[in-house]
Amino acid sequence: MSRDPDFDADLAAYGGWRALAREQSLWAVWLYRAGRRLDRRPPGAARRWLSRLYWPLFRLVETVTGVSLPKGAEIGPGLRIWHFGGIFINESARIGARCVLRQGVTLGNRHPDGPSPWLGDDVEIGAYAQILGGVRVGHGARIGAMAVVLQDVPDGASAVGNPARVIAARGVRPSAAITADGGLPPPESAA
Ligand SMILES: CC(C)(COP(=O)(O)OP(=O)(O)OC[C@H]1O[C@@H](n2cnc3c(N)ncnc32)[C@H](O)[C@@H]1OP(=O)(O)O)[C@@H](O)C(=O)NCCC(=O)NCCS
Repeated sequence: MSRDPDFDADLAAYGGWRALAREQSLWAVWLYRAGRRLDRRPPGAARRWLSRLYWPLFRLVETVTGVSLPKGAEIGPGLRIWHFGGIFINESARIGARCVLRQGVTLGNRHPDGPSPWLGDDVEIGAYAQILGGVRVGHGARIGAMAVVLQDVPDGASAVGNPARVIAARGVRPSAAITADGGLPPPESAA
């Protein structure tokens, strides 16, 4: 099987292949990438059979990991999910490249069949943050733990609270600055 450059970037964000044995969320990311490849296959018997296999596997991984990443969602390379459980991404949501999600995050609509969030590149979402509706979260933005985001967040800004308010506007910061345990770097190293 040929390599998937998006999954290679995911693996790099997780620190390599060993993460497959110790990070459940990576199983959900792998299945998401496999589902995207499946949708690119030409119609035919192989695609039909693989689709039949995909759906029970999707429900199994969703149940075991608590991470729901439907293949209809658009997710850029280098996704990093810290910890696991309670993560739901609507199938019409968009997540840019090198984004970070933490446990309990929802990207969903506000009303049935309503629009879903759009996340730029290098966005970091704190634990249990809920991002609802057709909001745009700009490149390099940070969303605080437990925030409920109902309005757009500008590039490089941080938003916290319920409903979320913007607390700072900053330049784009690469996710590489995240510490080994998924936290944010201490203030003295952020200069
Ligand atoms: C949003 C966040 C990135 C902001 O970090 P920061 O830019 O260093 O902001 P500060 O800590 O200086 O806080 C700025 C203000 O926002 C408030 N604030 C920060 N995070 C908040 C949050 N999650 N919810 C509500 N208010 C928050 C602070 O109390 C402070 O308010 P004040 O100005 O009235 O005193 C960070 O607080 C956060 O929530 N990160 C997510 C971490 C996470 O999910 N950890 C779980 C690891 S498993």
